[in-house]
Amino acid sequence: MSDKTCTILFVGDVVGGLGKRTLLGLLPSLRERVAYDFLVVNGENIAGGVGITPKLADQLFSAGVDVITLGNHTYRQREIYAYLDEREEILRPANFLKRQPGHGWCVVQRGDVRLGVVSLSGNLFMDAGRPLFAEADAAVHALRERADHVLVDLHGEATSEKVAMGWHLDGRVTAVVGTHTHVPTADARVLPGGTAYITDVGMTGPRGGVIGVRRELAIQAMATKMPVRFETSEEDPWLNAVAITTAAEPRRAASIEQLLMPAAAAA
Ligand SMILES: [Fe+2]
Ligand SMILES: [Fe+2]
Repeated sequence: MSDKTCTILFVGDVVGGLGKRTLLGLLPSLRERVAYDFLVVNGENIAGGVGITPKLADQLFSAGVDVITLGNHTYRQREIYAYLDEREEILRPANFLKRQPGHGWCVVQRGDVRLGVVSLSGNLFMDAGRPLFAEADAAVHALRERADHVLVDLHGEATSEKVAMGWHLDGRVTAVVGTHTHVPTADARVLPGGTAYITDVGMTGPRGGVIGVRRELAIQAMATKMPVRFETSEEDPWLNAVAITTAAEPRRAASIEQLLMPAAAAA
């Protein structure tokens, strides 16, 4: 990697134990297929669908995950709060309030390539305490001298906001990848300025449910308008990810490839 090129595998929201097993089961074949240098995983749904615990984060790191990004479910498990402050490579959105636990960007290094990773939350239909675009600019500025490549995970509900951020950061970061909707979009491409972009990577978990939830329960809640205790679906697990190959030039991508794989592919 002496010319500062690298391949980054980014995995969309891992949902529950089934999502975790799907990811871990597919990693060996992914390593063969993609030969990635960095592995970044959105882990906001790994603890039974909501949040993450220190034990689960440690399991991901032991499996070779370099950075974990989060989102609106960051604080659902209390035991993660101290961990978010202590462990550099786990990120909550940078545009949360400064007093909320954790931090929004970090740098990891492999060989002589330094990868900066930024976690951001949308403002539209989301509850982030601070403005998205200003914080994106601040994070990119902070990483300017610290990283050779920068990957941004924008965790957002609104397609428009994610598309706008792709254009806003085009030519300034290596990749902007969207998460949170759990459904992959078909718009992966390298923008004219050299930034790899996709509106939503999708999720790693049960495709047989409703964005991760058992479908009978999700339908019941919607049809009856009464409270329903949600459980994660166990049906039809898939991995949704993207592989980004960087250009030799700093903060530019050469390609982005969407990877949609059933868990059965691990066998
Ligand atoms: Fe999610
Ligand atoms: Fe989310």
